[in-house]
Amino acid sequence: MSTQHEQQAEATLTRLETVQSATEVEAIRVEALGKAGWISALMKTLGGMSPDERQVQAPRIQALRARVADAIEAKKAALEAAELEARLASETLDLTLPAPTTPKGSVHPVSQVMDELAEIFADLGFAVATGPEIEDDWYNFTALNMPESHPARAMHDTFYFPDTAPKGGRMLLRTHTSPVQIRSMVEQGAPIRIIAPGRVYRSDSDATHTPMFHQIEGLVIDRDIHLGHLKWTLETFLKAFFETDDIVLRLRPSYFPFTEPSVEVDVGFRWDNGKRVLGGSGDAEGHGWMELLGSGMVNRRVIEYAGLDPDEWQGFAFGVGVDRLAMLKYGMDDLRAFFDGDGRWLAHYGFSGLDQPTLSAGIGAGA
Ligand code: DAH
Repeated sequence: MSTQHEQQAEATLTRLETVQSATEVEAIRVEALGKAGWISALMKTLGGMSPDERQVQAPRIQALRARVADAIEAKKAALEAAELEARLASETLDLTLPAPTTPKGSVHPVSQVMDELAEIFADLGFAVATGPEIEDDWYNFTALNMPESHPARAMHDTFYFPDTAPKGGRMLLRTHTSPVQIRSMVEQGAPIRIIAPGRVYRSDSDATHTPMFHQIEGLVIDRDIHLGHLKWTLETFLKAFFETDDIVLRLRPSYFPFTEPSVEVDVGFRWDNGKRVLGGSGDAEGHGWMELLGSGMVNRRVIEYAGLDPDEWQGFAFGVGVDRLAMLKYGMDDLRAFFDGDGRWLAHYGFSGLDQPTLSAGIGAGA
């Protein structure tokens, strides 16, 4: 090793002090310590030396190599530390900035109530069934014991399509969720326990009627089902939904073509500051009865239409307006506002998408 090598080492160290980037440091490393580097070449000369000479030169060459290698490592570390410093300096959070605005979307009360009902009925062993909104006359009317000439058809203010339906009559927008009873029985047979929430349509419009609204249908078909099962189920469902044990029902004889006997179910309420509050018997002083839903034991003929033997299978059904339930529970007084899509209304009556109704946390949690 010569003074020239010493000088070259010094020059390398000086250059290292001035460079600013990792690429430059790497270039210097390759030049000195790489396979074809000058220090590597110097190390190779040891092999051709006499033992005496090697004894003198080896420590000097090793020392020179170590100095250069250490300086390169130190420089690399220094550059990395500087880079981290710079990044931390540029990525500081300004904690004085205003908080981001809260998310604007909300769950519509109709969706909320449908979720609540699904939760309550799932706990009672009901599955959720669906059917088409564009329905065949047969499912919407005929199979529900409303043949073509039946007067009850006139009460439904039906929207018809020009198209002929596969099973006769014309295609229509379903006027109730009851056709899902037929579809479910035809598809699944018995026993069966379902609820069917969804949109229904009638050509009708005022403060309490909109051309589209929502219903939920319930159907239980099994052996030995009687009116007691229906009453218990409705009571249990309404107590869970309105989150109170103070629910008194009145079953009134009524008529629906698809149930026999048919019962209209009223719920007792009292007046509180000009508002109806559910609870107590409707016969008490200052109280009243409010009509809530239609129900009954499924008509034998309906069970036959659905392809089941009515001597073996019986059951009950009910149908209730979802919008109405939402208004009663959450206090809106105009049905039309449900479908205006007004952001202010939704901001006021909507629900957080993060609040899933559960029986354990309270069905109307977050309301
Ligand atoms: N489908 C009826 C309507 O829309 C409501 C109804 C009444 C449904 C009695 C039922 C029932 O399942 O048993 O007016």
